Amino acid sequence: MTDGAQIADDVAGSGLEFTIDRAVATITLSRPDRRNAQTPGMWRALARIGDTLPEGVRVVVVRGSGRSFSSGIDLRALTPEGVPGEEPAVPADAGPDEMDRTIAGYQRAFTWLRRPAIVSVAAVHGHAIGAGFQLALACDLRVAAEDATFCMKESALGLVPDLTGTKPLVDTVGLARALEICLTAREVPAGEARELGIVQAVVPAPDLDGTVRDLAAALLQVDSAASAATKNLLQQAAGNTLDEQAAAERRAQIDRLQTIGLLVGGTGFPVTE
Ligand code: ACO
Repeated sequence: MTDGAQIADDVAGSGLEFTIDRAVATITLSRPDRRNAQTPGMWRALARIGDTLPEGVRVVVVRGSGRSFSSGIDLRALTPEGVPGEEPAVPADAGPDEMDRTIAGYQRAFTWLRRPAIVSVAAVHGHAIGAGFQLALACDLRVAAEDATFCMKESALGLVPDLTGTKPLVDTVGLARALEICLTAREVPAGEARELGIVQAVVPAPDLDGTVRDLAAALLQVDSAASAATKNLLQQAAGNTLDEQAAAERRAQIDRLQTIGLLVGGTGFPVTE
């Protein structure tokens, strides 16, 4: 287990800042001069945060400094030279197997944000392009400033979105709309993103941080174990049949009832005196 200051030290120089205020951790993409373009080093640092996040953290806010949430991958990472001081995103002489392992490593930066023990919230302003859009989609919830736009630009660069963004996008907007958004690489403005269910709230830009703080406070009001169990249950729902989901609800509820002392040893509800 690592404390917040240690994590902040660990990720210093990666383009990320990390703070913890009680049960709320905040990750700030902090390369404003590059519109928070993402690098492999930043993805390694994000994965490290996920690996070492203190147990008491219940809400993780992901935000960007400066004018944009994130302009996506640092385009220099796609050149053989890479971003200065970093290896290129595609290692020299990598074959398909090494590339598979490399991308799996990048994806680790994004997957932990779905962990049931936390609720992750992306605070999006300005641009969320490519890897930036996928980072927002990796979070459980998205709050957007009115100026936010979302763009899945990968296909325009001859690539596919591979940072775990395709599933949440299709789950949220459906196949046809996801196809249209990805294959036109158009900008989806905040208002449309709200109508599509991509973002849960759109607020004036000056209100973004306050709205996210209020949301975090509301999320902390419920019991932490009930929150984790409910998130776990909801995450399974789309992949389960009704019978499977009903069974999962029963299992989760029995566990809850035992934990809070309303069910002892599986013998039914305790008789009140
Ligand atoms: N990679 C590297 N540098 C970038 C990136 C990026 N993704 N985005 C912005 N920058 C740099 C610019 O080159 C510029 O550098 P300079 O000051 O040395 O000239 C600086 O950041 C500011 O960018 P501007 O374009 O001047 O800022 P503006 O606010 O006008 O536009 C925008 C912002 C729309 C984000 C624009 O920079 C842009 O389109 N960037 C590229 C987006 C992109 O194609 N991303 C890859 C998506 S695919 C994927 O993520 C896998």
